[in-house]
Amino acid sequence: MILIEKLEIAEFRGIKTLTLDLNKKSFGIAGPNGTGKSGIVDAIEFALTGSITRLGGAGTAEISVKAHAPHVDFTKNPEKAIVKLTARAPKGCR
Ligand SMILES: Nc1ncnc2c1ncn2[C@@H]1O[C@H](COP(=O)(O)OP(=O)(O)OP(=O)(O)O)[C@@H](O)[C@H]1O
Ligand SMILES: [Mg+2]
Repeated sequence: MILIEKLEIAEFRGIKTLTLDLNKKSFGIAGPNGTGKSGIVDAIEFALTGSITRLGGAGTAEISVKAHAPHVDFTKNPEKAIVKLTARAPKGCR
């Protein structure tokens, strides 16, 4: 398990800019529809794995990262999409 200290997002999944100081604490995300909750979760997954499961797993034949998440399409403007994750892995954790 990793502990997230800080998450910085720019031009990613509808999020213009967002910095969250999570300070290694558990957190929840709440808000009205379409305000970017899933974008935050996608950003964390993207920072850790380089992919977005929600746009590439089973049952997603009609959608793709390229078509539906152009901000992470590295063939276009990679310099504009930024996800920076500062995290700590507790001692002994893999
Ligand atoms: N690649 C993208 N380019 C531009 N806008 C995007 C992109 N991806 C998502 N958005 C927009 O960002 C906004 C936030 O979407 P998101 O799915 O993160 O919201 P949400 O809070 O999870 O909504 P819900 O409660 O419906 O799950 C939406 O208006 C969505 O259309
Ligand atoms: Mg959502």
